[in-house]
Amino acid sequence: MPSFYKPLMAAACSFAVVAALSGCDKNINEKDSASNSGDEPVAVEKSLWPSIESAVKKDPALEAKITELLAQLSLEQKVGQLMQPELRHVTPQDVKEYSVGAILNGGGSFPGENKHAKVDDWLALADGFYHASMSTDGGRVAIPVIWGTDAVHGHNNIIGATLFPHNIGLGAMRNPELIRQIGAATAAEIAVTGIDWSFAPTLAVVRDDRWGRTYESYAEDPEVVRAYGGMMVEGLQGTAGNNFLSERHVIATAKHFLADGGTLGGVDRGNAAISEAELVRIHNAGYETALAAGAQTVMASFSSWQDVKMHGHKYLLTDQLKNRMGFDGLVVGDWNGHAFVSGCTPVSCAASINAGLDIFMAPDANWKELYHNTLAQVKSGEIPMARLDDAVARILRVKLRAGLFEKGAPSTRELAGKREVIGAPEHRAIARQAVRESIVLLKNNQQVLPVKPTAKILVAGDGADNIGKQAGGWSITWQGTGNTNADFPGGTSVYQGIASAVTAAGGSVELSVDGNYQQKPDVAFVVFGEDPYAEMQGDVNQLAYKDPTHLALLKKLNADGIKVVALFITGRPLWANEFINAADAFAVVWLPGSEGAGVADVVLAKADGSVNAAVKGKLPFSWPASPVQSPLNVGDADYQPQFAYGFGLTYADNTETGLLEETAGQIAASVTPDSLPIFNQRVMNPWQLVLLDHLNNMQPVTTSSGTLGAVTVSSIDYKVQEDARRLQWDGSALASVNFASTERSDLSAYAGGALVFDVKVDAKPSAEVNVGIFCGSDCGGAIPITQQLNNAPAGEWTSVSIALDCFAQKRTKLDMVLTPFALSTSGTADISLYNLRIEKNTQAPACPE
Ligand code: BGC
Ligand code: BGC
Repeated sequence: MPSFYKPLMAAACSFAVVAALSGCDKNINEKDSASNSGDEPVAVEKSLWPSIESAVKKDPALEAKITELLAQLSLEQKVGQLMQPELRHVTPQDVKEYSVGAILNGGGSFPGENKHAKVDDWLALADGFYHASMSTDGGRVAIPVIWGTDAVHGHNNIIGATLFPHNIGLGAMRNPELIRQIGAATAAEIAVTGIDWSFAPTLAVVRDDRWGRTYESYAEDPEVVRAYGGMMVEGLQGTAGNNFLSERHVIATAKHFLADGGTLGGVDRGNAAISEAELVRIHNAGYETALAAGAQTVMASFSSWQDVKMHGHKYLLTDQLKNRMGFDGLVVGDWNGHAFVSGCTPVSCAASINAGLDIFMAPDANWKELYHNTLAQVKSGEIPMARLDDAVARILRVKLRAGLFEKGAPSTRELAGKREVIGAPEHRAIARQAVRESIVLLKNNQQVLPVKPTAKILVAGDGADNIGKQAGGWSITWQGTGNTNADFPGGTSVYQGIASAVTAAGGSVELSVDGNYQQKPDVAFVVFGEDPYAEMQGDVNQLAYKDPTHLALLKKLNADGIKVVALFITGRPLWANEFINAADAFAVVWLPGSEGAGVADVVLAKADGSVNAAVKGKLPFSWPASPVQSPLNVGDADYQPQFAYGFGLTYADNTETGLLEETAGQIAASVTPDSLPIFNQRVMNPWQLVLLDHLNNMQPVTTSSGTLGAVTVSSIDYKVQEDARRLQWDGSALASVNFASTERSDLSAYAGGALVFDVKVDAKPSAEVNVGIFCGSDCGGAIPITQQLNNAPAGEWTSVSIALDCFAQKRTKLDMVLTPFALSTSGTADISLYNLRIEKNTQAPACPE
């Protein structure tokens, strides 16, 4: 494994391929890419991009201090400032030795790897890093380190913190002022743990809701994101000239720049294949207010614009963001995001710094290699000294503005260690208000809502008493999985909220997850929906909500003559017509976070039956009329949603919703042939033959031959002319041959079948050969086929079949495949391929080990 690990990392993208076109940077030919490679002047109307005046002005005294510090710093110290290693792989000693500029804790990373770490543990660690950074041993200059964390819906990595609704719910509120309060409360909770910086807000304007990060987006309409961006930044950082970056505030991050929500097919880390006008008009909206409010950091997106990775996009990072929009803070990379740029690996990427990245987020154990390579690239001039100085100046500017040189050790700051501020009642009250205002009512026949708390009430469904489910991803753990109610002390589940109100009013309430009741209720609340997920793992191929258990429960309760209220937990609009039909009322509660009681505030009336809290939420995303209606956005030419953007009933409405169309859901069990050809004499639609090298360069092969790095493909004759392909690896580096597409293919109908191809081995492989099926840059996996190739009779055609199950076991999601075939090796080999296909009825041997 170890020797294998590095090439694999370097080629993470090659494996994923992600179709050439979506996960990996295209090795664009400079000549024809002037419009987006960033290296050439671009013939684009300047007026497309706004010029932005930040509320945080340049301060001459502070700028003088930057100049003074820069003059004192050694080259080594300067390069150290560019590094942001992750908690699991960095010690205070490293911070001192390498003059590390920043650290982070990734989602699900805690002091001592202890999920239940106490406030004092976080603080002690922050102090340790800080003191190391302030050491002047051996003549080093003291530069305070900054620690960043993903506080994306409250200080969500900390046990006991207030977890606000995820952004999608906040978008439904249309309440910018509350956004500011949420930012301020979050900042205060972060400050308790001595952390300086939050990787929020996400300003994605998500256009294709199949993306697993849809819930991190406020709305599909840029105007909501515009209205919120600046407010969240002000809440987190404070206001320029007033309480800006006081000890109760933290540095904010506008992320992920740019068009993370605009990728084709909603593919995570994919490609936004849109015009520059659309890029600015839709995706830049939130940045315009966030930068104006003085956001001090911007995170580059994993994704690409017109096939060029944002982490290597000089035109967007430098020419537009920094020069045109006047951003004078720092640009931080995303988690190894630099590694996917053409010509880069996780441990070497001058191209990113040269494009305008100021800090590498380098979360792996090998970040010191990145440090040494970057140092060497500065010494050789590959990274110009002026660029390094500019990056360091930006980092120092942010640290000086944040007062980190004067604030002293994290534990000595105003809110440090004040445990009572974590999950403070005032913060929970804000979160509870946000929950109330975020609920969107899609159906309320016979005005069954709000329900009198004096009624006999059943609360059912797997989301009823499940704070982990209602909190979603980025909650204690990265994907939000593995939590129980005990991981959210001080929080309330939806059931707990309902129970306390009902008990107080003298009604009766029964909790039964499976819906079997002791006492027949008047009304049943059924709480169900999506289970937690986060980036990558949350991507889906279509938008149907499938859940036979809860559908049956709604129907059964209905048949029992009970009024049924569906409370739907979800991170995105989902086609759920059968569920809506089976309920008398249907309310979308999104991902409400730790304050489930806010749901009860709305769905229960006062004891006298009058409204307790109004239902106010308006859809922040268009609700689809079929599972395959994505992308679907307000303003589309042919806009026919089930529920339009902005829809949401109020209690004043007396609207009877008739039965909704259910047939759209039975997506015609599309006739799938028994054998699906991928390469049959030619490359079949929608795939392309693509070569990838170990530096993420890629090259589509559209003619009869092609070479990239260590691999050459050529057309050869088997049964007829040019009906097979010969693949030759020279062993100089890892390289792979892929059939890939930017369009997802649903291969689930082939689940029991196999990947089948004919192969002829002319030179046996000198190293392991892997075959993979991928569904994204971190979706899918490969298995070795070295043995089959070695056993094949030399120079003769034989057939190989590998069960699709073998890939499913490696996390390949067969319903959303981008690359049905990727063959890679770092050794030598000479192999020919013929008739590559996916078959339903082929019995394959046991999975190769
Ligand atoms: C995510 C970012 C996040 C970072 C640090 C990345 O994978 O895309 O949103 O800030 O990790 O956890
Ligand atoms: C980290 C996350 C990060 C993700 C990206 C996880 O291991 O904890 O913070 O965003 O990896 O791949």
